[in-house]
Amino acid sequence: MMQELPLDQVYPLLEPGPVVLLTTAVKDRPNVMTLSWHSMLELDPPTLACVVNENNHSFAALNDTLECVIAIPALHMAEKAVQIGNTSGRDTDKFSAASLTARPAWQVGAPIITECFANLECRVNDTRLVGDYNLFVLEIVEAWTDPQQPNPQTFHHPGYGRLVLDGEDISFASNVR
Ligand SMILES: Cc1cc2nc3c(=O)[nH]c(=O)nc-3n(C[C@H](O)[C@H](O)[C@H](O)COP(=O)(O)O)c2cc1C
Repeated sequence: MMQELPLDQVYPLLEPGPVVLLTTAVKDRPNVMTLSWHSMLELDPPTLACVVNENNHSFAALNDTLECVIAIPALHMAEKAVQIGNTSGRDTDKFSAASLTARPAWQVGAPIITECFANLECRVNDTRLVGDYNLFVLEIVEAWTDPQQPNPQTFHHPGYGRLVLDGEDISFASNVR
């Protein structure tokens, strides 16, 4: 027998990709927030959607500059990711509080984070769903990975204070990229 699931418990079933850090910069002042609501939309050019709550300091920065970096942390940064997601750049320098290194990116004004194993420089290319859903469509214009972190283990956020670690790879025959 199927049992009815309260709608507020659906999100953990569908939670999207790994927890990432989204950096922005306004007038050379960088900020970073934790983000788990994102999804790939297109492969070529690589395009993703992300939901940034309008109450976050990052929302105004992203909306105004239309640029950001998606920095992907491995497991060793999980505690910092939670700390960054529980504080606001409105009143804190989160890079210094979490001992993270912001370095200039190549294509965008937002910084990369050198401790992350990947950094994706993004430009907002569609804001039509920002008003209704806080949803920004981002095109990845330059991507970097850290060869010193060859097999990073990422982590996911199914909500309610839980993090879930990526596990083993399972390969299968597929025509899908
Ligand atoms: C694991 C985790 C995932 C989060 N995912 C999102 C998200 O997808 N979208 C969002 O708007 N906020 C998300 N947050 C909350 C923001 O990171 C948080 O509100 C942060 O303080 C915003 O910082 P800012 O005010 O400096 O922009 C998440 C927090 C955590 C801990």
